Amino acid sequence: MKQPVRVTVTGAAGQIGYALLFRIASGAMLGDDQPVILKLLDITPALEALEGVRMELEDCAFPLLAGVECTDDPNTGFKDTDYALLVGARPRGPGMERKDLLEANAAIFSVQGKAINDHASRNIKVLVVGNPANTNALITQRNAPDIDPRNFTAMTRLDHNRAMTQIAIKTGTTVNDVTNMTIWGNHSATQYPDLFNAKVNGQAAIDLVDQAWFEEDFIPTVQQRGAAIIKARGASSAASAANAAIGHMRSWALGTEGDDWVSMGVYSDGSYGIAEGLIYSFPCRCCNGDWVIVQDADINDFSRAKMQATEQELIEERDAVAHLLG
Ligand code: NAI
Repeated sequence: MKQPVRVTVTGAAGQIGYALLFRIASGAMLGDDQPVILKLLDITPALEALEGVRMELEDCAFPLLAGVECTDDPNTGFKDTDYALLVGARPRGPGMERKDLLEANAAIFSVQGKAINDHASRNIKVLVVGNPANTNALITQRNAPDIDPRNFTAMTRLDHNRAMTQIAIKTGTTVNDVTNMTIWGNHSATQYPDLFNAKVNGQAAIDLVDQAWFEEDFIPTVQQRGAAIIKARGASSAASAANAAIGHMRSWALGTEGDDWVSMGVYSDGSYGIAEGLIYSFPCRCCNGDWVIVQDADINDFSRAKMQATEQELIEERDAVAHLLG
């Protein structure tokens, strides 16, 4: 049996946390031969609820679960940790402007970035789920200057999975037939789900649908799916978000399949002309615990304009929190 690795989950007492922790402990994220020690971090008022989650984790008697620690102290929560899923975030309150939301979260993620910098494994892999995920990831990364910026990522895998299912339904196929999906840019309503590079049974997905459906139905459906779920369920996506987080980390740690790729918000190196240093969602292939941005995706004028619009939003978010970027 391998040595256990430490996995920190923030916001562990929340609804995504509840859908996430049991699957990590079951081996769904890192494989069924990898024991894990779960480190659950939440705020002080949530500690009692967290204790209940710990009891339930114990009651599952997962063979791979080598320990559970609960804390409200980021320095303890990130100590020696190998994987961190940053889920806990400040939701938008009544009358809160976007800038207020950015600032409230910047305060949380700058503290966590510093704690990661000071206490975590130097090889930590960080996934930010809490919104605004890309900019929260940027803040975390900029506050952890001793760690490779490539180790900080943001989640667009849920958008990726949503896009896969929408094109499968439209073409009367299943997600098993869909490959090479890409979400470009920000995890927000400006994201660009790309059907020019996606394939269904090896055929260009865009050739199987008409342009009007792509522009007026597919793109807005994927962009607005989070809001549609809140309207229907009265609460934001939780099980699907947790599933996407598992998928993101699993791809990163264990690799992507064949020539296929996944969408990950990663540190931009300037690929496709996107501003360097932004956390931007690109098509990525993973191997040996590392990711690379796929370099040969086709970009036409339509795609270029959409990619730049979502880039512009990320630049504005970055500039709004510039004073907190470490
Ligand atoms: P929730 O409100 O059920 O849980 C959030 C938890 O975070 C609570 O237990 C809260 O006490 C905790 N928390 C707040 N501040 C914290 C801090 N400073 N340190 C540690 N824990 C803290 O929310 P839910 O539904 O679990 O969603 C969490 C986040 O994930 C939200 O920001 C949501 O917008 C985001 N999200 C992102 C998605 C994506 O695709 N990237 C998809 C769905 C949700």
